[in-house]
Amino acid sequence: MDYGVIFTDTMNRAYGATRMASCMLALGVAVLSSACAQVPLVAEETYKPTPGQMGKDVVWVPSPPAVVERMLDIARVTRDDFVMDLGSGDGRNIIAAGRRGARAVGVEFNPDLVGLSNRNAARQGVADRASFVQGDMFAADMSQASVLALFLLTDNLRRLTPKFIDMKPGSRIVVNYFGIDGWQPDYEEEMKSDCEPWCVIKLYIVPARVAGKWRLAEGELELEQRFQVLFGTYTVSGAKTGITNARMDGDRIRFGIGGVQYTGRVHGSRMEGERSGGATGAWTAQR
Ligand SMILES: C[S@@+](CC[C@H](N)C(=O)[O-])C[C@H]1O[C@@H](n2cnc3c(N)ncnc32)[C@H](O)[C@@H]1O
Repeated sequence: MDYGVIFTDTMNRAYGATRMASCMLALGVAVLSSACAQVPLVAEETYKPTPGQMGKDVVWVPSPPAVVERMLDIARVTRDDFVMDLGSGDGRNIIAAGRRGARAVGVEFNPDLVGLSNRNAARQGVADRASFVQGDMFAADMSQASVLALFLLTDNLRRLTPKFIDMKPGSRIVVNYFGIDGWQPDYEEEMKSDCEPWCVIKLYIVPARVAGKWRLAEGELELEQRFQVLFGTYTVSGAKTGITNARMDGDRIRFGIGGVQYTGRVHGSRMEGERSGGATGAWTAQR
């Protein structure tokens, strides 16, 4: 199925209808001026990319439209977000984010796809929020993005991982089909209907980086971190206890020491929160 053609045709029809409506409104129903009559209702798109066509590090295969919308649902994109797509193809993820009111930027190596994306954004009326730059995704600055919506190969994602974990804690990375090596998705969903063939969506939430030693009131907490999963020990007067049930969710941390559950938030070199179970009350820790 040629999603690219269907997508472009749908947008052209919508664009034509909008154009006709605005001419009729401006001039009255009875008189269509020559200016409006001569403007083509459908801006003919001459560039039609072919699914599977070569790209610099990955071919162009478009995400199915239902997946695009579901990815943005799962990432809970709102108008407060800054969404990026690395390898943005015909612009569909970024345009869909723009339609939700978010500011969105696509980075695409192929200049023809960048041109098509910008025209698609204009046709969809979101060019003020959704824009595209020609460039290499591996050189892109995504440090300000709150959401990445991606459809890339595992190998591409592996190369980008050092930049992913440098993003602000709590940023959401939502990917179509291929996952990030070694990082358990925080959420995963396979779309069974309305979708073929790339229909598995994975969500990763960037965790605050907490590996290392922390001083608590009575002892020392030493944390090892594998993305959102934590391991470690708590040492009091030379006696070590393994911590349990330890995870990050963005800047939120939780772990257990003995029968006590610690939950809290990380602010750079300080953490603070509440205890429950065998002991209660506030706790703080410093690096
Ligand atoms: C699988 S397509 C995904 C398109 C779009 N993100 C989507 O979900 O429909 C990957 C895109 O990455 C682009 N690409 C390949 N290597 C790139 C690179 N080094 N930098 C930027 N874009 C690249 C390709 O041209 C293609 O458009």
